[in-house]
Amino acid sequence: MLHQRVKLSENIYWIGVNDRRTHLFENQWPLPNGVAYNSYLICDKKNCLVDTVEMGRMDTYIEKIKEVVGADGSIDYLIINHMEPDHSGAVKAVINEWPSVQIIGNAKTFPMLEGFYGINKNLLPVDEGDTLDLGEHKLHFYLTPMVHWPETMMTYESTRKILFSADAFGSFGTLDGGIFDDEINLDFYEEELRRYYSNIVGKYGLQVQKAMDKLSGLDISMIASTHGPIWRSHIPEIVAKYQKWSRYETEEGVVIVFGSMYGNTEKMAEIIARTLSEEGIRDIRIFDSSKTHSSYIINAIWKYRGVILGSSAYNGGIFTPMRDLIRELEHIMPKNHLLGIFGSMSWGGGGVRTLEKFAETIKWEVVAPPVEAKHSARENEIEKLVAIGREMARKLKEFRN
Ligand code: FEO
Repeated sequence: MLHQRVKLSENIYWIGVNDRRTHLFENQWPLPNGVAYNSYLICDKKNCLVDTVEMGRMDTYIEKIKEVVGADGSIDYLIINHMEPDHSGAVKAVINEWPSVQIIGNAKTFPMLEGFYGINKNLLPVDEGDTLDLGEHKLHFYLTPMVHWPETMMTYESTRKILFSADAFGSFGTLDGGIFDDEINLDFYEEELRRYYSNIVGKYGLQVQKAMDKLSGLDISMIASTHGPIWRSHIPEIVAKYQKWSRYETEEGVVIVFGSMYGNTEKMAEIIARTLSEEGIRDIRIFDSSKTHSSYIINAIWKYRGVILGSSAYNGGIFTPMRDLIRELEHIMPKNHLLGIFGSMSWGGGGVRTLEKFAETIKWEVVAPPVEAKHSARENEIEKLVAIGREMARKLKEFRN
């Protein structure tokens, strides 16, 4: 049993759990590599939990807490940095075990706590800059709204210099033995970190920037997120990634996404991709919107500057999976992309027309005139597809040093 707890420092423990069973995070984002719900326990004159875990894991979670504090040990405080149920799901279980626990949150936390769980007692509100002394450990609270919900805050423990960062710096993927960044081959998390950021937090780039500015003066030895590895040896690297992603900084490369019923639009995608390659673009990713979940496509779009979208028409509009993708993009509104548009139709069109409207909404620069083929691309359209590829490559190369 004792192997289940992991020390961050002498009296601070990781007591998180892994979820390899759930298929969809927030019931919509695929979890092929699972996810970890991280919780932490600070043992001192007053024992303090930082966030809990998802409801389905609460028995294991309570066991883990007792493993540290003992069957008769007390929990005096529970900090709720973030109310989303993947972290607040075991709050009721904690209260059942330790009824006098004081729950720490801010003015936006407690209405959610009552709304989700009917909990409205033993609340200890904190505000920006407030502190709490546990004995040896001193806690400082920073409000970081919209990273990822309005009530989200972070807690900094100044004795050990540990930042409990809620969702920020988190990743999809379970912790398979290694808990700290230097215990793990981080290649495993490379894509899942960005997929988590781009799909879960990415809409709030400005708020992420504000939070990072606010925390920039702290001396941090460890970042303990609610998901993924604990950062202690690669803090500058993970902070740099968040700086880059929240500023929508992209790399040279092109994501081509197509929606194709009978293969004609897919053939058009291949022509553009080959042109890009001939023009010297090395990172080209083609996705079939019917097959690949949008979270992977959005993850790739967060990385690469070029985006080329192609769709067949469907009942006078755009092909359904492409409609879903562009709606998601309009919701998140990533910036700093170059756009190409193509597609096919059988009679009245609709796919390319919808993509042109999308371009106006999202305000990405369209690199060349859109191409729409009737039934299938012929010589005239093929020339225009090549022009899209060439123009995209030319504009991308302008960013080279
Ligand atoms: Fe991991 Fe926003 O919850």
